[in-house]
Amino acid sequence: MNAIDAIASRQSTRAVMLTEPAPRGEDLAAILQAAMSAPDHGACRPWRFRIIDGDAREALGDVFADALKKRDPEATNEAVALIRSKPLRSPLIVAVVAKTMEHPKVPRVEQVVAAACAAQNILTAAHAIGYGAIILSGWPAHDNHVKAALGFMDKDEIVGFIYLGTPESEQTVKPRPDHKDFTEVWTEAA
Ligand SMILES: Cc1cc2nc3c(=O)[nH]c(=O)nc-3n(C[C@H](O)[C@H](O)[C@H](O)COP(=O)(O)O)c2cc1C
Repeated sequence: MNAIDAIASRQSTRAVMLTEPAPRGEDLAAILQAAMSAPDHGACRPWRFRIIDGDAREALGDVFADALKKRDPEATNEAVALIRSKPLRSPLIVAVVAKTMEHPKVPRVEQVVAAACAAQNILTAAHAIGYGAIILSGWPAHDNHVKAALGFMDKDEIVGFIYLGTPESEQTVKPRPDHKDFTEVWTEAA
C-alpha cells in the first residue's frame, strides 16, 4: 500500500470488533518504529508507549475501576464493572503518552501534538500492514490515578489508548469530507 492510500483509507474499527491476531513481535516493532518518524520540534521525543497485552489488560481494568471509585465513591457496581471491562474489548492496547518537559523553545502544547502525531503514525502503520485499530480516551486518559499507574506524572498527557487487533469482519468504507470545504487560499489579512 502506498503512503497516500494508507493514510486516506485508514478508518477506525470499533474496539469490540477487534480480535486476534493483534500485532506483536516484528509487526508491533514496525508499527512503533513508524511512530519515531513523527514530527518533533526540538527533538524532545516526548512520546512514550505502554504496551498492554494479555493479563495486563485486566490489570488496567482494575486501575480504571479504582480510578472511578476514587473520583466517585458513589459509583454503582455496574458502572465499576463496566469501566473494568473496557480494556478487554481488544487483544492489545498501546497507551500513547506525552511526557512533557520544560523547554526554552518548544511549548508544552507542541510536545503533546508531537505525541499525537506519533499516535497517528501508529494508526496508519497498523492499517498499512493489515491490522485494525482505534484510539480512545475517555476520562481515564485524563485521570491522575491512571497516569500514575502507568508510570506517569499528573502533568503528562495520555494522548489515547490505541486498541489494536484484526477486524472481525470487512468494514464498509467510510465517506470522508471534501478537503475543499476546509480550505481557503489566504492572501492578506481580513
Ligand atoms: C485523541 C483521541 C481520542 C479519542 N477518544 C475517543 C473516545 O474516547 N471515544 C470515541 O468514541 N471516539 C474517540 N475518538 C475518535 C475515534 O478514535 C475515531 O477517530 C472516530 O470514531 C472516527 O472514526 P475514524 O477514525 O474512522 O474517522 C478519539 C480520537 C482521538 C484523536
